[in-house]
Amino acid sequence: MARPLIAGNWKMNLRLSEAISLAEAVRREAEKADGPDLLLCPPFPFLAAVGEALRGSRVALGAQTLHPEPKGAYTGEVAGEMLAEVGCRFAIVGHSERRQHFREDNAAVAARVRAAHRARLAALVCVGETLPEREEGRTLEVVERQAGAALEAHPSDVASVTVAYEPVWAIGTGRIATVEQAAEAHQAIRRLVRETRPSARDVRVLYGGSVTPDTAPALLAHPEVDGALVGGASLKADSFLAIVRAVPKARLGRSA
Ligand code: 13P
Repeated sequence: MARPLIAGNWKMNLRLSEAISLAEAVRREAEKADGPDLLLCPPFPFLAAVGEALRGSRVALGAQTLHPEPKGAYTGEVAGEMLAEVGCRFAIVGHSERRQHFREDNAAVAARVRAAHRARLAALVCVGETLPEREEGRTLEVVERQAGAALEAHPSDVASVTVAYEPVWAIGTGRIATVEQAAEAHQAIRRLVRETRPSARDVRVLYGGSVTPDTAPALLAHPEVDGALVGGASLKADSFLAIVRAVPKARLGRSA
């Protein structure tokens, strides 16, 4: 079983001073005894400063997206190579807000997965169904299609794969998937990873969507849930660290 990962996706929130204080608080938590792996994904302009605040700690830095090309005339965009240079180890790819507001389809997501690997970043691939898709009974079909497109873009010898199941209807709504709903989607994703990328020994399937200190314990106690991708509750140290501490001690035994 993979070591759990708790990731904060700050989206387009926080002021620089708040971002640095929050990173410092997470860093202090990471210096304490055993805990899950930790990842913070600040907005682009804060990456270097937050990276500095996290330097030498075991809290990883991640970007919220990246452009498929390594460089060039793409005003406003940021290449994976640039993100790696400021200390990023991860890039979120395929977040539903990118799919929805920036029209990123599965091909665009796959191009960004390839770009992340080219830049030696781990892609944190997000997949999830909308409410109408769930109501039509198409959840697993949608999740498998999204995950499949992203997985095929990983190198065939990839050792480590991280996917976040984020049902669109649970993001920022306070409406959370039941543990059973999450487990069903996670199982399907894990099966697909095993089939398409058998080289991946370290497979993590995170849950995201209205994770709070109240909802985290039941989710994180389920063996199918390898951690959480947290939005709103990651913006305050108290709530984020309460989620970090909700990871069952039994899951922290060993590194994958
Ligand atoms: P919320 O935790 O605010 O629902 O956001 C989840 C999310 O989109 C994380 O990527």
